[in-house]
Amino acid sequence: MGFDRVKAILDESIRVWQSHPGNDNPADLSGHGKTFSWATKAALLAAVGHGARLIQPEVIGNGQGHLANLIVDLRTGRNGPASRMPQGGPYIPDPQIKEIEDWIDGGCLD
Ligand code: HEM
Repeated sequence: MGFDRVKAILDESIRVWQSHPGNDNPADLSGHGKTFSWATKAALLAAVGHGARLIQPEVIGNGQGHLANLIVDLRTGRNGPASRMPQGGPYIPDPQIKEIEDWIDGGCLD
């Protein structure tokens, strides 16, 4: 699997989130910070959300993808369920979160 699939999963999560009653439409992701983006692979690998690198370089390609801030945020929230992303849900289905984790474990291929 390549980056295009990762981008598709994240883009779809925002589409679903902002279509959900009660959520902002469009979603306002600007509060995460200036470098928060998955527009390209380079952007995602450099992205920081609220001060946390989404994919820390040290978790790439060595079986530690489950520790990437991005994965923890999407799966459980880094500071408990209230901070699970996208905020308040609907959340990304577990198998798709696992696809992103596997992509990180595989070395973040193009
Ligand atoms: C280190 C990673 C992340 C942290 C620490 C984080 C933290 C936060 C915080 C504190 C908020 C509420 C305040 C604000 O609007 O800025 C928020 C909102 C939100 N986050 Fe995240 N987030 C992270 C990653 C993500 C990711 C990867 C997604 C997408 C899948 C996401 C989707 C959202 C959405 C949709 C909102 C609500 C925006 C709105 O109200 O329009 N976040 N996040």
